[in-house]
Amino acid sequence: MLRMAVLGCGRIGQMHAANVARHPRATLAGVYDLHAPSAAKVAEAQGVRAFASAEEVFASPQVDAVLIATATPTHADYIEMAVAAGKAVLCEKPIDLNLARVNACADRIKGTKLPIQLGFNRRYDPGHSAARKAMQAGEIGELHQVIITSRDPSLPPRAYLEAAGGLFRDMTIHDFDLARFMLGEEPTEVFALAGALIDPALGAELNEIDSAMVILRTGSGKQCHINNSRTAVYGYDQRVELMGSKGMLISDNRKPHELRRFTATRTEGAEPYQFFFLERYLEAFMAEIDGFVDCVEQGAQPLASFEDGRRALILAEAAYRSLAERRLVQVAEIA
Ligand SMILES: NC(=O)c1ccc[n+]([C@@H]2O[C@H](COP(=O)([O-])OP(=O)(O)OC[C@H]3O[C@@H](n4cnc5c(N)ncnc54)[C@H](O)[C@@H]3O)[C@@H](O)[C@H]2O)c1
Repeated sequence: MLRMAVLGCGRIGQMHAANVARHPRATLAGVYDLHAPSAAKVAEAQGVRAFASAEEVFASPQVDAVLIATATPTHADYIEMAVAAGKAVLCEKPIDLNLARVNACADRIKGTKLPIQLGFNRRYDPGHSAARKAMQAGEIGELHQVIITSRDPSLPPRAYLEAAGGLFRDMTIHDFDLARFMLGEEPTEVFALAGALIDPALGAELNEIDSAMVILRTGSGKQCHINNSRTAVYGYDQRVELMGSKGMLISDNRKPHELRRFTATRTEGAEPYQFFFLERYLEAFMAEIDGFVDCVEQGAQPLASFEDGRRALILAEAAYRSLAERRLVQVAEIA
């Protein structure tokens, strides 16, 4: 059993703690949160200890690995502390909002043999993963285009938007990663269009965008289109389409159940999509822990690595430059 401690007991940390606690090959060794009541609540719910400090977690011989689910600006520090203490790491996205900080972290942990996995959970989604496998097996011939639709159900609170670091670094980062995962080669060019269409006044005040379309092209010419919105009234809209020379694959949305309503005025009335990431990607979040346990116990390579986190952030920076300068940006300008 891999003994894991969860750092951060907020929205996603609570879910990770519960997932680790019920994982057949992991045990929850304890939790920590700077906000002690949050840690105490999760510790009590899971029947584990709440550590008094991050230092105590890293010094504990009862902890083999840490799952970092704290606020984004703490991730790079905690990754470095974990590696210095000899603990394997599963860290939520993004590594940091600042590429220079990510590069410095990469330098500091260089050469470590410890597994460091990034929380790009969508790589583990059964539908997305099956689409990639079918594509790799040649079912759609040569891949030409990838279309990623990723729309949140509703605009997050203002405080979240103020701290999140911007749509491309916080939200689209998942899609940049998924694009690389599906394309199988590095995007070399990025073009972005974006605006605040949902709440223009808030967007202007925070200098933030809430709706975006990003185009990527790889060195061999493969194309990818990512579309994002912070509000889709019909639920969390998560679709991936792979178009190739011999066909198309679609990994589609999920509904809570399959009831359809038929009346005199409408047919096929299905349920709204699963509300948000905690529901839609539950299996993926479990599977990423599976993958992490394999990395630690069997020496497998993380499906989503630190370098994947760094590369996704480079694409986010390229998208911001494209937006600011209203032009196609070469990724090499950023990297
Ligand atoms: N993979 C995904 O789909 C996904 C979804 C949501 C959030 N996230 C990521 O997970 C992280 C947490 O997001 P959230 O929505 O749970 O945020 P949150 O604000 O709900 O929780 C963050 C927690 O971190 C704690 N914290 C802050 N600084 C700390 C420190 N120095 N040490 C210990 N604890 C500290 C806070 O007290 C809070 O309880 C973010 O990096 C976010 O980008 C990933």
